[in-house]
Amino acid sequence: MVMVNGPRKTTRPATSRSAPQRAKPKRTTPQHKSPQNRAGKTNQILRGDCVEALRSLPGQSIDLIFADPPYNLQLENDLLRPNNNSRVDGVDDEWDKFSSFEEYDRFTRAWLAECRRVLKPDGAIWVIGSYHNVFRLGTALQDLGYWMLNDVIWRKTNPMPNFRGRRFTNAHETLIWASRDQKSRYTFNYEAMKAFNDDLQMRSDWLIPICSGGERLKNDQGSKAHPTQKPEGLLHRIILATTKPGDVVLDPFFGTGTTGAVAKRLGRKWIGIERDEGYADIAQARIDGVKKLPASAVQTMPSKRAAPKVPFGTIVELGMLQPGAKLYDPRARLSAEVRADGTLAHKGAQGSIHRLGAQVQGKTACNGWTFWHYKDGKKLQPIDTLRIEAREQLGLVPPAPTLIAAE
Ligand SMILES: C[S@@+](CC[C@H](N)C(=O)[O-])C[C@H]1O[C@@H](n2cnc3c(N)ncnc32)[C@H](O)[C@@H]1O
Repeated sequence: MVMVNGPRKTTRPATSRSAPQRAKPKRTTPQHKSPQNRAGKTNQILRGDCVEALRSLPGQSIDLIFADPPYNLQLENDLLRPNNNSRVDGVDDEWDKFSSFEEYDRFTRAWLAECRRVLKPDGAIWVIGSYHNVFRLGTALQDLGYWMLNDVIWRKTNPMPNFRGRRFTNAHETLIWASRDQKSRYTFNYEAMKAFNDDLQMRSDWLIPICSGGERLKNDQGSKAHPTQKPEGLLHRIILATTKPGDVVLDPFFGTGTTGAVAKRLGRKWIGIERDEGYADIAQARIDGVKKLPASAVQTMPSKRAAPKVPFGTIVELGMLQPGAKLYDPRARLSAEVRADGTLAHKGAQGSIHRLGAQVQGKTACNGWTFWHYKDGKKLQPIDTLRIEAREQLGLVPPAPTLIAAE
């Protein structure tokens, strides 16, 4: 269990004798002490209100934002467990209280607008919420010009039960992933996510436990240091999937600094904003204790789309296929002849590997690299394997590592 010097307890009106007192935030940055302009500086916590702090950052300087804003739970009374009347340790903190939906929406639009300003043109944002607030967040995102990419369901393996038995167990939270603009060339490490998921395309429903055990930060009294600390597993997947090493990740509702801790470990730069000094102290101590992984350990699967372009003519030029050689469709039902100019010919038709591939199938488009095959002994191999070799021969990529058999 990680123990930190958490916020001091404050007494709250007792609603039940057995009700545990939750640690309360220590102190909040006074309104007049606005965050200093630390333009361009990363790996630090800006203490203060997020809208003000965001205004102090330069425009177009952030690659990715992860935001876990107040839920606006609108809790009126303490929630008690029916069996022993003990108080459920939910979210009833001041930072989660808004006088009306209008006030919540005004706040939401203010911070989301600032987030969009600080994002690079190809930047993106993740916003997490529950049924209480996620629909309002989604509307605001679209109204402000963000472009929706996915909503992801974080399904909790160990959710809190519905104690009153009046509704379904609330077992998930929703994450919205949106790019700054419709035209943004946002980062998505597709191949890495597929490899992560045992070579199956990663889906939009993620099964991840809530933060508990040794990962859950505790205060001196042994209670949760923060009511809504997110699991590192969730941030690990988000940061791995949608950033590159060295990118700047910003979290405007930093809490215990989960985003900063994972970003640092994965070799990304980070900026956190937190209004509550107690939480900011906890986050700083936590991140100070995190070790950055070696650069090689955070290299992700290279994206096929990002791989350097090699035209088919180069394969012929390099002598990997001779003019006159035969290529086949995946079932070897038809063949085409390789010509010296890097085109293919079949029954009087001639064209690029893509155009002829489409033509022989009666289709409008075809990826010739995966459609056409050459004979390697008795086996058929896609010509894409030759392209991979060609990239290495031309020094466009480092050579693939050789597997050394154990003795
Ligand atoms: C839902 S919690 C985030 C928890 C965090 N993701 C973690 O893993 O610990 C929201 C946090 O935002 C902070 N907060 C709320 N309103 C804020 C504001 N206007 N400016 C800065 N921080 C704020 C709260 O103090 C709280 O710590």
